[in-house]
Amino acid sequence: MAKKTLPILEHITVTGWGAKGKALAKVDGLVVFIQGAVPGDVVNVQLTRKKKSYAEGRVTDLITASPERVTPFCKHFGICGGCTWQDLSYSAQVGHKRQEVIDNLQRLGGLELPEVPPTLASPETRHYRNKLEFTFTAQRWITKEELDSGEQFDDRKALGFHLPGRFDKVFDVEECWLQPEPSNAIRNFVRAYGTQHNSDYYHIRQHEGWLRTLTIRTTTTGEVMVLVMFGREDKTNREALLTALQNEFPEISSLLWCINPKKNDTIWDLDIHVFHGRDHIVEELRDVGLPNLRFRIGAKSFFQTNPQQTQVMYELVRDLAGLKGDERVYDLYCGAGSISLFLARHCQHVVGAEIVPEAIADAHANAELNSITNVNFEAGDLKDLLNTDFIARHGKPDVLITDPPRAGMHEAVVARIRELAPPCIVYVSCNPATQARDLALLKDLYRVTHVQPMDMFPHTWHVENVVRLERISG
Ligand SMILES: C[S@@+](CC[C@H](N)C(=O)[O-])C[C@H]1O[C@@H](n2cnc3c(N)ncnc32)[C@H](O)[C@@H]1O
Repeated sequence: MAKKTLPILEHITVTGWGAKGKALAKVDGLVVFIQGAVPGDVVNVQLTRKKKSYAEGRVTDLITASPERVTPFCKHFGICGGCTWQDLSYSAQVGHKRQEVIDNLQRLGGLELPEVPPTLASPETRHYRNKLEFTFTAQRWITKEELDSGEQFDDRKALGFHLPGRFDKVFDVEECWLQPEPSNAIRNFVRAYGTQHNSDYYHIRQHEGWLRTLTIRTTTTGEVMVLVMFGREDKTNREALLTALQNEFPEISSLLWCINPKKNDTIWDLDIHVFHGRDHIVEELRDVGLPNLRFRIGAKSFFQTNPQQTQVMYELVRDLAGLKGDERVYDLYCGAGSISLFLARHCQHVVGAEIVPEAIADAHANAELNSITNVNFEAGDLKDLLNTDFIARHGKPDVLITDPPRAGMHEAVVARIRELAPPCIVYVSCNPATQARDLALLKDLYRVTHVQPMDMFPHTWHVENVVRLERISG
């Protein structure tokens, strides 16, 4: 049966953003999500999918450009899934993020809000990330323009990012604006080395090949970690590549490698080996009138990816917590304990809880590194861990910080927070929809006193939001 061709919609005015930062318009009552548009554009749209309740399409002609449009600065824009809002001015990005927070808290959460200030812009809008993972492929993605050119592409080796949502499609990255140097220089050096030595790049579908991934981590203190993942051991060639990297980039303070024969790229269950330097790098956060806090970051450790904005966020959390020095604080979903440690020197005691045991091990190590002793950390799923025994062990909190993953808090955790009823809660969220859902369950007990949207990820639709709740007395 012939495939039905979907129509082109003409002169469509784009009116807003839908979920995951997709531009949308309403056409005869139907919501149409439009790839390649921004609100304020007037466009012609080729529909690519049509359902009863919504449709999807892509721009074929830009008739009138939105005043919010800017020219994307990255040559990979349009293919890369990394910075999909780069065609939107930064002021418009932060404006939309604030509105997204307000809409979610008011409409989904039914919450009464104080005046919501502008989104706290990221101190850096380029080179703001401290970690990137690049993938080697023997069969890079060929763009439509390249295909149409009729040119032959015999050598399809590449080192770059996956196309959005495609585990098997990788495009070659020549320049990425997300991470400070020497990130681009290291990636391009490794690619050039691979080409020069005719190295065997990984075949993602067949699961064979030698060079698999390259992970680069940087710190604000100038330290650099590089981890090269190989599909199999080839000692002579491995040592030659790592020696070349070490010689070319003496600033690499931690040069690591691992062998991964598994089908997926995760490193949690792999042995990580040190080729040169230490097995970790050290990041620092400033603290008023006190020595900097130091965090040891190993290959498997989590640390917030925008370190400058993390500094701003943690200071905000500390200020909203209103610590005077005698408080007992819970830090739920604490990761490697960075918020816990940031607060510990300003209160009586902090207990951090987190599901990943390795993160809790890092939290303990970081407490020791900073000679902080008034903290405890426990590993476990919070829906089970936060029980009466836990409360008996640590006492009831005066301040509760919660920073759950995108899914928000389990309802058992919210129920336990209702029982605990601490006078002050600071809720950090990377998903205002689940934050609104959780806050709605607390709104008979708590008043929202502060809402502060923050931009952790410029040029993406992601928004971070910090809310302070105060227990309604009585
Ligand atoms: C947004 S991160 C918090 C990071 C941390 N507050 C920081 O600033 O570095 C959310 C954390 O929740 C943890 N997590 C996810 N599900 C959990 C659960 N059911 N119980 C406890 N922790 C969980 C994740 O492992 C992750 O470390």
